[in-house]
Amino acid sequence: KQDSVVEDISAGCGVINFKVNRKLLVQEDVKFGLTSELFNTLKRGTTLVEYSSPNIAKKFHAGHLRSTIIGNFIANLKQSLGNNVIRMNYLGDWGMQFGLLGAGFGQFGCQEKLKQNPLQHLFEVYVQVNKEAEHNEDMKQAARDFFRQLEQHESEAVSLWQQFREITVDEYQHIYKRLGVHFDIYSGESFHQDQAQEVVQQLQSQGLLKTSEKGTGVVDLSPAGDMSSVCTVLRSDGTTLYITRDLAAAIDRKAKYHFDEMIYVTDKSQENHFHQLFHILLAMGHSWADRCKHVPFGLVRGMKTRSGEVVFLEDVLDEARARMLHNMSQSKTTKEMDNTEDTAEKVGISALIVQDFKGPLLSDYTFDWDRMLQAQGDTGVFLQYTHARLCRSVLLKITKLYLAGGVSIFALCDLYSYDEVLYQSAQDLQPKHLVNFLLKLCHLIASAHRELPVKGSSQVVAQVGRLILVDSLAFNIQLYTVPLCTKHKLI
Ligand code: ARG
Repeated sequence: KQDSVVEDISAGCGVINFKVNRKLLVQEDVKFGLTSELFNTLKRGTTLVEYSSPNIAKKFHAGHLRSTIIGNFIANLKQSLGNNVIRMNYLGDWGMQFGLLGAGFGQFGCQEKLKQNPLQHLFEVYVQVNKEAEHNEDMKQAARDFFRQLEQHESEAVSLWQQFREITVDEYQHIYKRLGVHFDIYSGESFHQDQAQEVVQQLQSQGLLKTSEKGTGVVDLSPAGDMSSVCTVLRSDGTTLYITRDLAAAIDRKAKYHFDEMIYVTDKSQENHFHQLFHILLAMGHSWADRCKHVPFGLVRGMKTRSGEVVFLEDVLDEARARMLHNMSQSKTTKEMDNTEDTAEKVGISALIVQDFKGPLLSDYTFDWDRMLQAQGDTGVFLQYTHARLCRSVLLKITKLYLAGGVSIFALCDLYSYDEVLYQSAQDLQPKHLVNFLLKLCHLIASAHRELPVKGSSQVVAQVGRLILVDSLAFNIQLYTVPLCTKHKLI
């Protein structure tokens, strides 16, 4: 029944919603929050989050940026809820393309260029060798030979491959640092080549492996068992595939890290891949596969820089910084700063993240530099600006004063819904709840600023009270953005 505390009750889709009268709660100075028991239900022990996972020598695509920032959000969120989090990057560092790359490097590669700009150079070699292999049988044969040497662990081939891998990881680490992202483990497909063969043997001994008409090894996924839907785990030449390595990797991770849940973050084109992966793991008797989850996201259209289509992640970050610098130099309100470049970098990256996190992850969206970098409206720039205004402009000018009991000035009742927002984000792993909450908060702050100015207010009490309000808001924004990304907690 409705009363003064429960404002509204509604039902739909099998759930009953109670809307709490927040004004009353605030007036009564009741500390409102979800119970710790409810939050405890979100604790999962050890969570392994696998994200970013770019492919060595191949083009970076917007999907890798999305995977990097979404995975980082999920890892931060899980950690702030009290889970032990393992952050893993699973590099695409194995497969026939390394045969091509290794063979091609002999012809088109240059050690000097590799050291100067590794991602760029490996990509160039990869493009050239692919072109060459289209019409040159010898090149194709050389690639096959190189890959065989790799699979047989021949030292010369392995050391070249290792060099490619190390240089790429170093380069990526530099970019991750700019994004405020880190990994506990750099794993990769190459780690599981031998184990993948063992998985095939296990499938065989469990009677799960069948041979298709084409001579490939398959697992029958059809409910009727009539091979109407199969997953290929072994090529006819006896080599393993992406999915076989993923099966091996999942089993190995469970044994090594004893995770209670595992989360994979990739674009939605891999939904079927993960569906098959979990299905096969369950069929093999790994009941923990029920606690593995794929978080899919939509495509980003039109991610371009001034020099054309995006090939590398770093180009996007540089462009965000350059555009932000330009906007700052044009803005009449920009004050002198100690480190303009650094500010432009941070604000630019926040803008990228907020644009990406505003909607449901599964939706595709169109990348739009101008909209994303607007100082007004629902952008990361606005979020950063609001915080800087609270923290720097007002607080540093007036000495900080504290007054006990000033909490009831929290007329901004929405502050009290943070727990709900966090709970929602933790349940469906969607950052939009948190981001939209923060943006709403910033709008409220902007109106509070207009109506309750700190500077120039006549009474001392009003000044003190407003100062406390401002201080707590700054503190709250800082606290609330922690799950978004670690480094860009706001300046
Ligand atoms: N390297 C892959 C790609 O770029 C993503 C890897 C996703 N993770 C996995 N365990 N399959 O498409």
